[in-house]
Amino acid sequence: MLFKKNVVIPEYYEFFNSVKIISGYKALEAIPFELGRLGAKRPIIITDKGVSQAGLVKIVVDSFGGTDVVIGAVFDETPQDSSNVVVNQIAAIYRANQCDSIIAVGGGSPIDTAKGVNIVITEDTDDLLKFMGNYRLNKPMKPFVVIPTTAGTGSEVTMAAVIANPEKNIKMQFTSDLMLPKFTVLDPRMTVSMPPKITAYTAMDALTHSVEAYIGTQKNPVSDAFATASMELIRNNVVTAVTDGSNKDVRLAMANAALLAGLAFSNSMVGIVHATAHATGGVCQVPHGIANSILLPYGLEFYMGKSPKVKENIDSLLLPLAGPEVYVQTPPAERAAKSVSTIKNMTSELKKLSGLPVRLSEAGVTEDKLESIAQATLNDGAIAFSPVEVSFEEALSIIKAAY
Ligand SMILES: NC(=O)c1ccc[n+]([C@@H]2O[C@H](COP(=O)([O-])OP(=O)(O)OC[C@H]3O[C@@H](n4cnc5c(N)ncnc54)[C@H](O)[C@@H]3O)[C@@H](O)[C@H]2O)c1
Ligand SMILES: [Fe+2]
Repeated sequence: MLFKKNVVIPEYYEFFNSVKIISGYKALEAIPFELGRLGAKRPIIITDKGVSQAGLVKIVVDSFGGTDVVIGAVFDETPQDSSNVVVNQIAAIYRANQCDSIIAVGGGSPIDTAKGVNIVITEDTDDLLKFMGNYRLNKPMKPFVVIPTTAGTGSEVTMAAVIANPEKNIKMQFTSDLMLPKFTVLDPRMTVSMPPKITAYTAMDALTHSVEAYIGTQKNPVSDAFATASMELIRNNVVTAVTDGSNKDVRLAMANAALLAGLAFSNSMVGIVHATAHATGGVCQVPHGIANSILLPYGLEFYMGKSPKVKENIDSLLLPLAGPEVYVQTPPAERAAKSVSTIKNMTSELKKLSGLPVRLSEAGVTEDKLESIAQATLNDGAIAFSPVEVSFEEALSIIKAAY
């Protein structure tokens, strides 16, 4: 049998996503009509300086020309590590300008910030902390639209947001299906300006989502379908996205790949790779996608050594990661190792093409921080979804292998 059928239907699972997807070369032009259907016509745009300086806000605003949508306000100062302070500042601008809806234009940072703003406005509060955790929201939220400008986080279809609280020195996590955007718009005009290195590491974030969703405890046939479709799109398009960023077909493919990965992991969750990556970001300020990209192969090697069941899933990953020819030519006993080497080859190539770091030591992590990262890994929420238990020593060994 050339293609092993490794699909086991779980005894029970749930899958949910309510986000309308609008994807295409003129997708932005659909926004005024869709906003109108939601009874909204005075949105605030939440973005960051890099995105506005790339001219992307202007493209969005120009696409509203001749419609009755009026931009109530534009906030373009979202920092990469956004906080409740920034969220409250944006909410004050929303209220002062009588906005009636929110459009996030950006990568994961503006999108997560916009989710926080929607909580503060909807709940009429200035205290995000009260709503931290899972399913603490009850009111229907303000019309919320996401226009991703990176192809990575999948935050346009996830029911999660992470926002820092500098006073308490914590990262607040929020989860609720009410936080999902009403619709998301994938338009290649929004990602052609992404520089090669950001293109590379955000793509690796998306790949990590699909891989972790595929091997996680909550994997199911629906998330598997999205995860494998995402991996195939990344395999076929990531190099061209990095070397020929102006190629709109490839940019649209990568935007769809990131969205599909988001659909997959929003339900199946992520595991040890994201736990170590969050910890690395928290302790050493390494960007999320870079940390995932470096840690992904070492997280998989750890799983392979620990669980035959997870190893079987890593065997199957070879098909979407490397394609049918490589899959059939690789003896079954070598498939998991080949999945990992395929990922290592991909990141090595991206390093040559864009300067993407492939070791933690190349990403600003110093040896004296490795134990703190291992400790923070054990406190990260993603560890709960790891398909195997992870001890401090094991977390440290993964981090050392990636160092
Ligand atoms: N909520 C979720 O489900 C979820 C999932 C994964 C990650 N995240 C969060 O997302 C954040 C990371 O998001 P990200 O990786 O998308 O990066 P980002 O939003 O921090 O953006 C990185 C940089 O790229 C620039 N940029 C973005 N798009 C551009 C474009 N088209 N042209 C030129 N420059 C552009 C930005 O200005 C910024 O300087 C992290 O805070 C992470 O925790 C959230
Ligand atoms: Fe991620």
